[in-house]
Amino acid sequence: MKSFDVVVIGGGPGGYIAAIRAAQLGLATACIDEAKTADGKPALGGTCTNVGCIPSKALLQSSENFEQAGHHFADHGVQVKGLALDLAQMLKRKDKIVKASNDGIAYLFKKNKVTFFHGRGSFGSSANEIVVAGEKLTAKNVIIATGSNPRSLPGAEFDEKLILSNDGALAIPEVPKRLGVIGAGVVGLEMGSVWRRLGSDVTILEALPGFLGAADEQIAREASKLFLKQGLKMEFGVSISKVLQSKNSVKIQYSASDNSSKTFECDRLIVSIGRSANTAGLNAEGIGLKLDRGFITVEENCRSSVPNVWAIGDVVRGPMLAHKAEEEGVAVAERIAGQKPHVNFNTIPWVIYTSPEIAWVGKTEQQLKAEGVDYQVGTFPFSANARARALGDTSGLVKFIASRKTDEILGVHIIGPMASELISEAVVAMEFRGSSEDIGMICHAHPSLSEAIKDAALAVDKRALNI
Ligand code: FAD
Ligand code: NAI
Repeated sequence: MKSFDVVVIGGGPGGYIAAIRAAQLGLATACIDEAKTADGKPALGGTCTNVGCIPSKALLQSSENFEQAGHHFADHGVQVKGLALDLAQMLKRKDKIVKASNDGIAYLFKKNKVTFFHGRGSFGSSANEIVVAGEKLTAKNVIIATGSNPRSLPGAEFDEKLILSNDGALAIPEVPKRLGVIGAGVVGLEMGSVWRRLGSDVTILEALPGFLGAADEQIAREASKLFLKQGLKMEFGVSISKVLQSKNSVKIQYSASDNSSKTFECDRLIVSIGRSANTAGLNAEGIGLKLDRGFITVEENCRSSVPNVWAIGDVVRGPMLAHKAEEEGVAVAERIAGQKPHVNFNTIPWVIYTSPEIAWVGKTEQQLKAEGVDYQVGTFPFSANARARALGDTSGLVKFIASRKTDEILGVHIIGPMASELISEAVVAMEFRGSSEDIGMICHAHPSLSEAIKDAALAVDKRALNI
């Protein structure tokens, strides 16, 4: 029987990063992952690498390039003749990027001496015994990082041909004429954007009366305006009653927000209505692990109800984000090694990679109102930023929210070009408990999009310079 200080179950961003950190700290570490490529080889990196963050960002970039070439290059005086879409090449490029990431993680495991087991891991007769691919391992500590699975609609199971989860949505072999999306969440908006840019007529049906519930309301309103202008059709407040599948199309029967009955037909349907924790086959109950609606119950420090078992990432409470999983993975490895790390959940950034991008960190205005916090707001539109004008991408704004009493930054919300990169400055400032004045006093290069951050910070004190 092989013995380890740490066995990590799951090789996604939570699991593989935890394994690498544990090994760096001198702990004998193994990582188990069952994901495989089409030819049966290990596909390390989890949902994020195989069917999530990485392939979706590859397609978002490729489809944005296509849209730019088709609709925006002419404005720059760049004429494109004979523009054509080579979808097979676009998908091949995406697959190549995924494979490079899979291989990169396998290399990092070798470099850091993490022992890898390919197969499904489960607890054996105790919380110190793990069974994988016919082998028994003993572990002083176990980190569960088994991630999440897409939720399906009752009566409309995923076949990944007509009814698609994120998996199928990233591999549609031809551009559907009519694409239906159920759920205007992060997957729906990102994947809806990809296929709209490539030529699909996209309709998103959403149960709630609005969308982007976790975002600041002002930003969500701005996003709604911009997405509608781009041609993304969205219907809110719907209740799906039936999904009927024929050979080449899907019919969705639903009641609309005014209670009228409607039917919508499409050639492919993406169902993106959230994800559920993946604990299937782990024998979690067998070792007495407490679960809450499928999620593994953990303390703030990620320790489960069984003392030597920890859980991180999508399989526990909190936002389903790769970098949140990674932060928890590093912290758990360090705790096992006797260190005292800390994860600041308030400074975990969110990014939605639509065009324009949406990114935020900290509290929204509606959260602060509900908490009765006294705050001030400063906003700055990208239309007043010289670099955004040079780029030809002036939609959106930056919004700073700071404490009225101390000026400490409480939240920063961006919708606009490169929001995914710009948000880092706000994360750093909040981590150091900076004030909006601190950001306003820092020199930002000119011309740069980051000047919009500085101007929004200055706007909190009503002294933005460029508007
Ligand atoms: P996962 O990445 O799900 O990894 C779990 C791994 O464990 C999998 O490989 C699985 O096969 C394996 N496993 C499960 N059970 C067992 C078992 N019993 N034995 C062995 N192996 C097992 N997040 C972002 O931060 N940024 C993004 O841009 C982003 N884009 C996304 C796009 C899409 C389309 C989707 C669906 C998600 C996206 N996410 C994004 C979310 C992100 O993918 C997840 O939050 C992240 O992957 C969670 O990491 P994890 O390590 O907890 O689990
Ligand atoms: P989500 O939780 O973001 O959105 C699901 C949406 O579906 C919600 O708006 C919800 O109201 C709606 N919905 C639920 N049931 C419905 C029904 N029966 N009919 C109509 N609408 C319904 O979930 P999504 O988009 O599936 O993504 C899952 C998670 O993956 C996200 O929460 C996010 O954490 C992660 N992710 C992160 C990304 C990023 O960081 N850029 C990109 C993609 C996913």
